[in-house]
Amino acid sequence: MDKFRTLDSVELKGKRVLLRVDLNVPVENGVVTDATRIERVAPAITEIADKGGKVILLSHFGRPKGKRDPKQSLKPVAAEVARIIKRPVRFAEDCIGEVTERAVAAMKPGDILCLENTRFHAGEEKNDPAFVATLAKLGDLWVNDAFSAAHRAHASTEGLGHVLPAYAGPSMLAELGALERALENPQRPVAAIIGGAKISTKLDLLANLLKKVEVLIVGGAMANTFLLALGKKVGKSLTEPDLADTARKIIDEARSAHREVVLPVDGVVAKKFEAGAPSRTVLVPDVGEGDMILDIGPRTVEHVVSVLARSRTLIWNGPFGAFEMQPYDNGTIEVAEAAAELTQAGKLVTVAGGGDTVAALNAAGVTDRLTYVSTAGGAFLEWLEGKPLPGVEVLRVQ
Ligand code: 3PG
Ligand code: MG
Repeated sequence: MDKFRTLDSVELKGKRVLLRVDLNVPVENGVVTDATRIERVAPAITEIADKGGKVILLSHFGRPKGKRDPKQSLKPVAAEVARIIKRPVRFAEDCIGEVTERAVAAMKPGDILCLENTRFHAGEEKNDPAFVATLAKLGDLWVNDAFSAAHRAHASTEGLGHVLPAYAGPSMLAELGALERALENPQRPVAAIIGGAKISTKLDLLANLLKKVEVLIVGGAMANTFLLALGKKVGKSLTEPDLADTARKIIDEARSAHREVVLPVDGVVAKKFEAGAPSRTVLVPDVGEGDMILDIGPRTVEHVVSVLARSRTLIWNGPFGAFEMQPYDNGTIEVAEAAAELTQAGKLVTVAGGGDTVAALNAAGVTDRLTYVSTAGGAFLEWLEGKPLPGVEVLRVQ
């Protein structure tokens, strides 16, 4: 793997460790509804504490845009951290200032303190050197264990790395290792499933993947625009007609580079996207004028599974159909199940990530049987696009 500074041989006893985690978890009515991101950073917290470090948790939450907003407080999240790691976690009502400095000064080795949302201060997103310096006063070293926020060059995700000794945390390292195994140095052939609604948001991604993978499997509503580009009728399906030429170009480029592009050959269609609306399975040429394609059909599933069976590595971003509504989750579930079986049999390395993807794979019940599922949304996408992530770059050994 690329070289990153790690905590392995660092003396932590009595040190104030600013640990950047991503506590930007879904919360409803003050209750954390998905704690995966907390579970991923729990080992970093307890390991540093066990080595006698004073653990100071830094995170953003939501997008309060530089202003204090009680609805975007990290307080309930800090309570969830305490519940998960089964240790007390104290909370400071701000991430800088006198109260915070006093709370830090009162810490003993092994104590854990969570600071309030860094984005309550405009200096966070601006990566303002003065704000960075104020944060830096609180710590002796900075550990970044927040891959999912590493696409942001903010004070707590990047700026601190220039003014304090900087280290990659264990979940950051696990994430980078998995990503490298999937895209930088993979076992070939490599297939990528790219789903989601819009090509417009995934152009850079498609361009970069065409250079890196043997097979590009297009799913989700994005596939409709590709079908349109090939002159197929897609009825009332969600499309981006303005991008049909772009889709055509991607297909041509793939052909000249001897890459395979897999598009749906059948679909589950309905007249309305509504629970209980009658749906049927048709071959693509039989999609009617009033039909919306809402999922892939069994022939497409079979074809995709056969592609996975002859691949060694799979990168998965985005669901196939409108998986949030039954029965349109079926295609994603069946492909996910096949990927999980191949992965468990040691025949496939499967790395998945990005916003909806984790929700879809959780719903399919396969998350634990894939090689690695990233909790990152934007950061996972930018990494797939081949862009350097500021919060990762700052951790490299020079
Ligand atoms: C995320 O949830 O994707 C990360 O925490 C980053 O959040 P942001 O998109 O608000 O920067
Ligand atoms: Mg985001």
